[in-house]
Amino acid sequence: MDLTQSAEWQRLKEHSATIEQSHLNDLFRDDPARQERFAFRNQDLHVDFSKQRIVQETLGLLTDLARANDLEARIKDLFNGEKVNTFENRPALHSALRLPDYRTLDINGSDIVIDVHAQLSKMERLVERLHSAQARGYSGRPIRNVVHIGVGGSDLGPLMTNRALCDYPCPASHPLEVFFVSSMDGSQLSLLLRKLEPSETLFVIASKSFTTLDTLANAETAKDWIMERSNVDERMILQHHFVGISANPDKMTAFGISEDNQLLFWDWVGGRYSMWSCIGFPIALQIGMHRFRDLLAGAHCMDEHFRSAPLESNIPVLMAVIGIWNINFLDIHAHAVLPYDGRLARFPAYLEQLEMESNGKNTTLDLKSVDYATCPIIWGEIGPNAQHAFYQLLHQGTEKVMCDFIAPARRYNDIDDQKGSEVLRKQHILALSNCFAQSRVLAFGDHALSDTGEVPFYKRYHGNQPSTTILLDELTPFALGQLIALYEHKVFTQSVIWRINPFDQWGVELGKVMAGETLSVLHGDNSLAGQMDPSTLALINETLKLQDK
Ligand code: F6P
Repeated sequence: MDLTQSAEWQRLKEHSATIEQSHLNDLFRDDPARQERFAFRNQDLHVDFSKQRIVQETLGLLTDLARANDLEARIKDLFNGEKVNTFENRPALHSALRLPDYRTLDINGSDIVIDVHAQLSKMERLVERLHSAQARGYSGRPIRNVVHIGVGGSDLGPLMTNRALCDYPCPASHPLEVFFVSSMDGSQLSLLLRKLEPSETLFVIASKSFTTLDTLANAETAKDWIMERSNVDERMILQHHFVGISANPDKMTAFGISEDNQLLFWDWVGGRYSMWSCIGFPIALQIGMHRFRDLLAGAHCMDEHFRSAPLESNIPVLMAVIGIWNINFLDIHAHAVLPYDGRLARFPAYLEQLEMESNGKNTTLDLKSVDYATCPIIWGEIGPNAQHAFYQLLHQGTEKVMCDFIAPARRYNDIDDQKGSEVLRKQHILALSNCFAQSRVLAFGDHALSDTGEVPFYKRYHGNQPSTTILLDELTPFALGQLIALYEHKVFTQSVIWRINPFDQWGVELGKVMAGETLSVLHGDNSLAGQMDPSTLALINETLKLQDK
């Protein structure tokens, strides 16, 4: 039966008519204990859904919808390695990347937990060589700089995590600096190359497919740069200055990366779910392998919760169904991610890929066009900065927006300098006060104020914008692991109910093919120009004219 025709969907439609009439002020007045009812804890995360436009009945109806769509069975399939990525005929086993080594998971007759831990051990040995200054460049000097080259899932996870966990540097004896390069146009790389010493620089080429043009273009530029400056033969350069991370060892070998310098993962790990694999190498370099394992343990903790908790208290499930409630029943199609901690600056960008590349789909698993909305538009920024940028729209614009507020409760508690920690702690409390104040105003509007007095219309706040607040006890590797896995499982749950495949990304392929054709025309091959639209052709001609100047 079509999703929107199902009894569960119809019941939610009817129910939404009642909720549409109520303001969050009414919901809090009618149920003063809702912050207890709708707040949940899993280890280091406290998740408060009470400022969502829901009542107890809503959650009941939403979990009915999830059950009617076989969510419990699909969760089992996900963890057991069934081919949930149907269009690519493979499992999606990112959860296996964080299984402890005493667990087993048999896929096609082989225990993949052994493979996972073998690669982690290989990565650990490389990390140790770099931390102990044993890894040396062509001149014999130890490597000091590591440039991670990748894009999308091969970049966003490690980049976000290294920023988030900047307070956990590994106490390695030999200092290393880790940089990230992703942009195809070479702008990040060219800036970096100006300041790096080639003989002390290691390039890590991270690409699941090892065919992504953005990454290969940067890798070639890096290779040329080091070759030109070193006067050493290519084999030596590749041996001492290049590590590859990929699910495609043949392509790494073809690039010239020796087997010793190859870290592997597998086609059953989606690119945007790959930071738990050796794609996390730069994370381990920055925080150390021990803490990288804490990150995995945090994610594993959320995995165990997701696979075993009843739907009614299963946090990723609740987050997912409340999202569906907002999107499909309250007609909200914009989702802002607002961390109140500068270390989480890259978290919104990470989620943009995780959510929109996964669930930005319009075709169901049985090849029908959906007749309901799927993934909303997700964007975000560090909350306090966003307050001075786009919060105006959240408070007084015409768009309905749902928000996720994310903040650690505790920070700066372990700084040695008593005075320094006090002032910084004050800053953290200041940020928290803004976080809580903003979600209040978004929810309750003018009513959040004790005395509204006579306020002109243009100064009024309507409120009723729903939000979830996620409080981490502290932003540790473990808690971050939990947080990321929470969103991963939310995405999966939504895909099950929307009946779409969250693990492919065909929507980005056509652009790549077209870029190839366009490149030939830009290089002067006119045979394809005839197939082009006049607008694009005119832009190309204008560009060629300007380049000739
Ligand atoms: O173009 C999209 C995409 O395929 C993402 O899904 C992926 O994370 C990114 O490109 C990078 O791909 P790769 O790791 O194969 O270089």
